[in-house]
Amino acid sequence: MSEPSPDVPAEAWSGVHRGPLREGEWVRLTDQKGRKHNFELIAGKRFFSNKGHLDHDELIGRDEGFTVTSSAGGQYLVFRPLLNEFVVSMPRGAAVVYPKDAAQIVALADIYPGARVVEAGAGSGALTCSLLRAVGPWGRVTSFELREEFAEVARRNVTQFFSAPEGGTHPAWDLRLGDLKDGLPALGAQVDRIILDMLDPWNCVDVVADALVPGGIVCAYVATTTQLSRIVETLRAHGGFTEPQPWESLVRDWHVEGLAVRPGHKMIGHTAFLVTARRMAPGEKPPRKTRRPAPGAYGPDYTGPRPADVPPPEQPDEA
Ligand SMILES: C[S@@+](CC[C@H](N)C(=O)[O-])C[C@H]1O[C@@H](n2cnc3c(N)ncnc32)[C@H](O)[C@@H]1O
Repeated sequence: MSEPSPDVPAEAWSGVHRGPLREGEWVRLTDQKGRKHNFELIAGKRFFSNKGHLDHDELIGRDEGFTVTSSAGGQYLVFRPLLNEFVVSMPRGAAVVYPKDAAQIVALADIYPGARVVEAGAGSGALTCSLLRAVGPWGRVTSFELREEFAEVARRNVTQFFSAPEGGTHPAWDLRLGDLKDGLPALGAQVDRIILDMLDPWNCVDVVADALVPGGIVCAYVATTTQLSRIVETLRAHGGFTEPQPWESLVRDWHVEGLAVRPGHKMIGHTAFLVTARRMAPGEKPPRKTRRPAPGAYGPDYTGPRPADVPPPEQPDEA
């Protein structure tokens, strides 16, 4: 009887491999200064750096997690890239959702195995990889992307990450070229979760409301406070969603060395804000808020969408 393969079963579509490194796989080398180098293993090929060269053949066939020394004495740590490492080093079209935010989206937009998820735009496919990981092969991720060149970048990145055979892709993935506002109604199916990473998510709220199942979650990812205000107020004014929950996540690395235990000097100051809201059942409204808006919150200077129970401000007399 032949030995069972040490690899993760291919039908799991996890994007992870176990066992010895093989030709065609990507590896991530980290040098002594922490610089990263990602490349595909090809028999007979050489990796060059400022510390000489390394033959790919020295890496192929070994178990990941070792140190290798180049021709000029440079030491490199060798591992397969993790999902969070892959998405920040892969080729980009549009800006990507950073791993700290992808983790928040998967957890707080409650992406689960078997879920039917829609996202827009696909961009470079970074968030797509996390969504596909979370829904697994029995779920569905339908990704809309307006721009053909970005859709192509996303297709290449997602295909590479999940080691899909040439011309194939993850079985739960459906990449569609076009505007979510047209494509979502045309899907003709209800979905469980919708993630919006685009400039103007407020223009999609009506189609999102029509496509989400009762209890479904919409999650928007926006870079600026003006976008944050507009998407929150549009969801509120729609009336068919629970009170939107806006937040951002700040992650700070720590330096821990003997008695020197302190926050790191560098951190990613800002990526984007997140907002989630749940879809009410048809015809149902969330309870009215008992707390009144802060004085002036919806005063004469406020020009955005207005909650139904907030009257328009009195206009100053024209005298
Ligand atoms: C910031 S990028 C998305 C990045 C992606 N989430 C990732 O992690 O790689 C925003 C993308 O949304 C696309 N887009 C904007 N409005 C859209 C719409 N209405 N329908 C589909 N795609 C849209 C843009 O072309 C752009 O590629």
